[in-house]
Amino acid sequence: MSPNLSKTTTYDGISRFNHWIIAVAIIGMIGFGFYLSEFLESGPGKGQLIGIQKAVGVLVLIFGLWRVGYRLKQGFLEDATVMPTWQRLTSKLVHIVLLAGIIVMPLSGIIGSYFGGRTTSVFGLFTIPAGDKVEAFSAMGHWLHGACGWLMVGALVLHVAGALKHHFVDHDSTLTRMIRQQ
Ligand code: HEM
Ligand code: HEM
Repeated sequence: MSPNLSKTTTYDGISRFNHWIIAVAIIGMIGFGFYLSEFLESGPGKGQLIGIQKAVGVLVLIFGLWRVGYRLKQGFLEDATVMPTWQRLTSKLVHIVLLAGIIVMPLSGIIGSYFGGRTTSVFGLFTIPAGDKVEAFSAMGHWLHGACGWLMVGALVLHVAGALKHHFVDHDSTLTRMIRQQ
């Protein structure tokens, strides 16, 4: 196989590492975020957990910038198999939504917090200062955070359903090439 062909049909180790680290982080953070906003009563314990959500979210943003930058630099791979046009387009659209979400989710959280006049301490390593309170920007950040969270859930359902269908129904290499060197 020529080097050029293998570059466009398999994920390198860095891509696979980046994909699964961010997958675990984003799924965990979405679950954690909805738990905080929908199921947890207000109180000091909640404040502490929100602090953890904010600190981990900033670390996810830092790693996410590297992960998204690496994909943009490399470009998307060719599909592992021949698919109908609607499936090809849906899969690409979902990948773009997920990549954008990796950045927009933490950034909108930071905007909501900053313009809400709240600091974000990242485990004592560094602190994002509080900005002047601007209610409209803070509300926009919070709204975007929630709306984008739901959009990510929808995209993820399609994404995981697609991966499972390729593996168990079509028996092609779409999932395995994201798991090991082909
Ligand atoms: C259990 C969860 C997940 C599974 C089983 C899964 C599976 C896969 C598979 C099989 C591919 C390769 C598709 C192809 O080459 O055509 C892929 C690519 C991709 N996945 Fe996931 N994924 C999961 C979670 C996530 C999450 C949480 C995100 C983002 C937040 C994500 C973002 C992406 C992106 C952007 C691609 C395109 C290639 C790349 O940039 O890595 N995935 N995923
Ligand atoms: C990967 C990064 C992140 C993901 C996936 C994520 C996801 C979520 C989700 C799904 C929610 C529930 C929906 C909502 O109430 O808006 C939420 C809540 C929240 N997130 Fe994030 N978040 C991330 C990072 C951040 C960051 C960086 C901050 C702030 C610096 C932040 C602050 C908050 C706050 C304050 C809440 C509201 C909790 C409540 O309503 O009681 N998040 N997050």
